Amino acid sequence: MSRRNPTTSAAHIALLGALLTFVATAARARPPAEDYVLHCMGCHGAAGDGERGGVPSLRGVDRFLRVEGGRAYLARVPGVAQAALDDAALARLLDWLVAHFGETKPARRPRYSASEIQRLRALPLADPLRVRRALLQRLDRLDAVDSKGHVDGAACHD
Ligand code: HEC
Repeated sequence: MSRRNPTTSAAHIALLGALLTFVATAARARPPAEDYVLHCMGCHGAAGDGERGGVPSLRGVDRFLRVEGGRAYLARVPGVAQAALDDAALARLLDWLVAHFGETKPARRPRYSASEIQRLRALPLADPLRVRRALLQRLDRLDAVDSKGHVDGAACHD
């Protein structure tokens, strides 16, 4: 009895270790689509439609990457920056999000790194909606320039 106990507890410890490794690996490897369901879907909806009167639709979210400040905005917006996910998981989730809900074909993948996320999420946006408005205005101006260049590009001499 006294000789078997150490073996038994060593076996238990080994088993516990294996179990913890399994749990840790499972948590680390959780696919971004599942993180979306757990951390984002409650507000943004399964199809990313958002909610009328406050939560924006995520469809076409890749448009923010076309303007300066947009890449940082996607990582600093409170729902993202404050998610209970580590930097690496959040980087994967954002890459997935942009590819999944983006409307540019082929889908863009911004390829955020964990260290970039760490840096950006540490800079909270005091007024996300003001930043959002400014980015959308920048996009509008970009689109206006694009279509002007397209329609009467020859008249751009003054
Ligand atoms: C409590 C509700 C809530 C949760 C949870 C939430 N969001 Fe949001 N999200 C918002 C709101 C509201 C905005 C608009 C900006 C603001 O006021 O924060 C927003 C904005 C965004 C934007 C910018 C889109 C745009 O058009 O401006 C992205 C990207 C985004 N959220 C992604 C996520 C991701 C990814 C998660 C999960 C990790 C998440 N959100 C969780 C409410 C939420």
